Amino acid sequence: MKILVAGGAGYIGSCTTEYLLEKGHEVAVFDALLNGHRAAVDSRAKFYYGNLADTAELNRVMKDFSPEGVIHFAAFIEVGESMKDPGKYFANNVGNAINLAEAAARAHVRKLVFSSTAAVYGMPDVVPIQETMPKEPINPYGRSKLMFEQVLDWYERIYGMQYTALRYFNAAGATRIHGEDHHPETHLIPLVIQAAMGVRPSISIFGTDYKTMDGTCIRDYVHVLDLAQAHLLALEKDGSAAFNLGSGKGYSVRQVIDTVRKVSGKEFAVKEEAPRPGDPAELIADSTMAKTRLGWKPQYDCLETIVRSAWEWRQEHPNGYGDKS
Ligand code: UFG
Repeated sequence: MKILVAGGAGYIGSCTTEYLLEKGHEVAVFDALLNGHRAAVDSRAKFYYGNLADTAELNRVMKDFSPEGVIHFAAFIEVGESMKDPGKYFANNVGNAINLAEAAARAHVRKLVFSSTAAVYGMPDVVPIQETMPKEPINPYGRSKLMFEQVLDWYERIYGMQYTALRYFNAAGATRIHGEDHHPETHLIPLVIQAAMGVRPSISIFGTDYKTMDGTCIRDYVHVLDLAQAHLLALEKDGSAAFNLGSGKGYSVRQVIDTVRKVSGKEFAVKEEAPRPGDPAELIADSTMAKTRLGWKPQYDCLETIVRSAWEWRQEHPNGYGDKS
């Protein structure tokens, strides 16, 4: 299949591009390299340097590459930043995303797969979370993702372009070649790994008084290669839907720290700090729908395996992709 990956120079986009290429698909990456890295674009993929704000360029790429499927990863992802600069999130994650949907619909793309998020659920009352549960985002980031899911629904009804929205829980881990390199880094696993490598003086736990088994937040970590598998299944299947993607297992912040200690064999300082505003105590996915309807079979759903892959990637790439500070 010919697949255009918008945001293929970012973390999940680069890992998915690698996975698709290894499965024999023809892939082109479209990326403005705002947060992504040129070195993360798989050398086997065609590369278009461009911004989703540029509709003429998008139309040119659609014509030049003629993709059958499009995957959209090119969004801003920092919850905290979205609370300070909501316009940046709505403009790119909704406005520019519409440019991509529009160009794809005009080019008669059969299916668009969209990186959505568990943040669409806000503060859930019940875990594990099912797709039908209330969606009440508590920040512009989550709202922007939900809005674009709704936009895609209308593109299906009006133009017949199918879509799959994949609501990731906590994406983590690395492939052999590609890994996580955000600037600034805000995600727990890479930060703990940097503490274990001595790149950071310590790791902070945000909140120790949650109503959880050890007082710290619980999250559902899902391996980036399992996410990649779901994107391909979504492109191959007919129909439109939204699916949760998580392992169904919850691990606390302290358990993540202990796992990094075990995998790395390193000791490092841990500080206890105030909770981060807007953090739900517990987020765990019910991914039954993805398994039964997409045929998703996660293979790396053990925290130690996930952390080990991230640790190994960092050992080989101590400065990440080395192009951003
Ligand atoms: N945490 C710490 N210390 C840190 C960093 C994080 O204790 O230095 C805690 C957070 O408070 C949270 C947990 O570790 O409880 C995981 O935090 P991450 O920042 O790694 O991930 P989030 O669960 O906040 O966010 C992830 C994605 C978001 C998405 C969200 C969906 O990164 O893009 O899941 O719920 F919106």
